[in-house]
Amino acid sequence: MKGHTDAMTLAPEQPIGVFDSGVGGLSVLQALRTELPHERFVYLADSANAPYGERGDAFVAARTHAITQYLRDVHHIKALVVACNTATAAAIHEVRSSHPDLPLVGLEPALKPAVARSKTGRIGVIATRGTLSSAKFGKLLASLAGEADIVVQACDGLAHAIERATACSQPGMPPHALEVRTLCDRYLKAMGSFGVEKGQIDTLVLGCTHYIFARDALRALVGPGVQFIDTGAPVARQTRRLLQTAGLLHSEDIPLSRETALQLLTTGSLAHLQTVAQHWLQLPSSCCAAVVVP
Ligand code: DGL
Repeated sequence: MKGHTDAMTLAPEQPIGVFDSGVGGLSVLQALRTELPHERFVYLADSANAPYGERGDAFVAARTHAITQYLRDVHHIKALVVACNTATAAAIHEVRSSHPDLPLVGLEPALKPAVARSKTGRIGVIATRGTLSSAKFGKLLASLAGEADIVVQACDGLAHAIERATACSQPGMPPHALEVRTLCDRYLKAMGSFGVEKGQIDTLVLGCTHYIFARDALRALVGPGVQFIDTGAPVARQTRRLLQTAGLLHSEDIPLSRETALQLLTTGSLAHLQTVAQHWLQLPSSCCAAVVVP
């Protein structure tokens, strides 16, 4: 992996970069915009290369590195949120050492909050194969040994199905939404019984940012009593803390121009990103653009 050598100047007016393999990280972007309404954001969906989950570490690390460099060189970001559990697991350490000057926030399945909140002591974790087989996740799991019964399930194909389902703006049950439901059903059944009774899984960790878009399908399968844990809000708070410590928070007194406050970029289909922005997040399609990141 190439090292980033020249330290770049970081300033409060610069945007925060956020990236994911696809549209999943937009859920994290929403949390960031709520926590940091005075900041500018550049979101990059690497949809041309999604999903990352079954691609292997070397590929995901190379993409993570290329995108970080692109966001620095072209968009002059002052901080980066890797809004992808799979990319964080595969590459966050390398990105940190290649870009020691850049405030960097990664995501990992929120096991500790789940352990603290579970009443039955039985927790489910759904994530990509890449995340669950990583050394980083293995360490996290080992650090909680004996504190809870943790059932993990790799959901091959689910992020991909969600990418395709979110590309469709029609109401009703288009074929890809049906595929999302079928996959959720298969994977949750494999994990055992969900509910709030003794021996049941009462807490489900969404260990992939895409899975929030399948929240309704998951809820229909586990029932109302099971709590979902995702990392959007804590990651947003952590980003605020890092920027504050580095003296990089954007001033609340300088208004943001609508044109530069938010840019949504994709290496894949522009129409797909625009559909997700409009139909799922109520964001104007004018803030979306297609880019090439070799
Ligand atoms: N959204 C990503 C994650 O949080 C990866 C999904 C994928 O591309 O497989 O892990």
